[in-house]
Order: sequence, then structure tokens, then C-alpha cells
Amino acid sequence: MRKSLLLNVFLCFSAFALLPRAQAQPMFDVPFVPTPHVVIDEMLRLADVKPGDFVMDLGSGDGRVLITAAKKFGARGIGVDLDEQLIFQSEAAAEQAGVADRVKFLQQDLFKTDLTQATVITMYLLPGVMMRLRPQLFALRPGTRLVSHDFRLGDWSPDVTTQIRKNTFLWIVPAKVAGKWQMKIPLPGGDHAITLELRQKYQEIDGFAQIDGRHAQIWEPRLWGDRLSFVIVDDRDRDSEASLYFEGRVSGDVIAGRLRRGAGNAQTIHDWRAVRVAAQ
Ligand SMILES: C[S@@+](CC[C@H](N)C(=O)[O-])C[C@H]1O[C@@H](n2cnc3c(N)ncnc32)[C@H](O)[C@@H]1O
Repeated sequence: MRKSLLLNVFLCFSAFALLPRAQAQPMFDVPFVPTPHVVIDEMLRLADVKPGDFVMDLGSGDGRVLITAAKKFGARGIGVDLDEQLIFQSEAAAEQAGVADRVKFLQQDLFKTDLTQATVITMYLLPGVMMRLRPQLFALRPGTRLVSHDFRLGDWSPDVTTQIRKNTFLWIVPAKVAGKWQMKIPLPGGDHAITLELRQKYQEIDGFAQIDGRHAQIWEPRLWGDRLSFVIVDDRDRDSEASLYFEGRVSGDVIAGRLRRGAGNAQTIHDWRAVRVAAQ
């Protein structure tokens, strides 16, 4: 029974995707297919939705995602949909659920919607629509969480994927870190100049460093929203070589944070601050 329901949903999406433009309702980029409640719970759990969050559901259908975000997770938000009837239905459902003061439903095109106030964006769209939205999503404030039911963002790999009946994907909008960065840090023997050259594809980063002009590899680079971490081995003196564990927050052209040199009782902790001196 459940299998045939899933098959119907799949066929409905597939048929819509294959329809020639002239036969499809021209304004609608995606048909209305509601997300099952257990999948909505998983999307909102995965995005770690909390009372301070502002959730935007793009193509909000009957309003169920946003109403759940308000009712179970204490968030506020906006849903946008082109279908006037679904907007009326959503408003009535929000009223009935007692969350009408925290959610709003607007009849408008998701592509013409300002997304910048969202801390979380929820989507159950189609692959082509996701791809058209991708540049706008990537440009959002670092740390914004994007969560999608069933469909991905092309070669922008999700940060987390879960599967509970359906696939759900989470992306954390990454800070833009590509370029050349410079800093001075206190190492044994005085202040030393470190240069980082970082390359970036979405949240995936790599590159290399220099300590006082000597090449050093960057190990374990990670970017999670505006949080960056990586390791450089300080091997200027083989007898006292140690790893430098950097953790910091990116804010425009500055990264600032804590640096641990070494491990155990030999560990020392320092502040660090790097400035971008050239974009990639
Ligand atoms: C698959 S449904 C998802 C509904 C809801 N978000 C959920 O997960 O239950 C997609 C919705 O997008 C709406 N839609 C399609 N094209 C749109 C567009 N360009 N702008 C806004 N909404 C659109 C449809 O009317 C439909 O309600």
C-alpha cells in the first residue's frame, strides 16, 4: 500500500517534469505534492530548528512544513506559493493550529522572493528548480541552513544526508574563504608570519600555507558555515615539531580564533587573526 503511494508520488513528479512547457500550467514550476509529516519532522530536526529561527518554505503547499516548524519547534517564518487556494488553506490551518501569529503565507513566486532574512530554508522542489535557485542560496549569509526533501543541489554536496522513508539533505551555507590570507602568530622564538592560499568549491576547501616563507601543507581543512578549522605542522625544528590546530570564525576578509600548538601538557593556546590580502 505504502509502496504504491510512493510510486504514485514519483510518477506525479516525473510526469510533471516531462510535460512540455505548453501543456503544463505555465506559472507553476513544481506540482503540489505534500511532504509526509515524519519527513517534515526529520527535515526540521536535521536543520536544528529552534525558537529563534526564521524558516522560509519555498513552495509552501498547504503550509504543513511551516506550521510544524512553529508548533513543534517554536520558530517563526514565511511560506510562499503561487497557488492562491493553497495560501488560503495554509492560513486556515495555521489559525487552527494556533500559530497564525508566527507564520505568514504569501502568494508569490519563490524566484522573486527575498531569502536574506531566513536562518533556515526548507524545500520540496524539482532538480531543475533547485539548480536555478542554487546561486541565490549560495550567496546567503554563512551559516544559513538549507534543507531539502528528496532533491539535491547538483554538485554542491550536502553536509549531511539522512534517510527515513525519504532522503533529506542539509547544506550549511559556507563563508567565502578563497584567496590569500596573512597573519602573525607567536611561536617559540617569537612572532612568525603565516600565509594561507585557500581554494574553495562550496564548503570543500584546500590549499597550502607558508611559515616564514617555507612551504607547509594544510591538513584536515573544514568549513562549516562561518567556522573554519585546519592544521599546519610546525616543523622548523625537527626536535620540537608540533601541530598547529587552528579554529576560527570568518567574517568578510578577517578570520579570528584560537590556535593550539602541540598536545597534552605540552600544549599552548594563542589567539590568531588573519586578513585576506588577495581574492582568488
Ligand atoms: C512539492 S510541493 C511542496 C509543498 C510543501 N513545501 C511540502 O513540502 O509539503 C511544491 C509547491 O510549490 C509550489 N510552486 C510551484 N512553483 C512555484 C513558484 N515558482 N513559486 C512559488 N511556489 C511554487 C506549488 O504550488 C506547490 O504547492
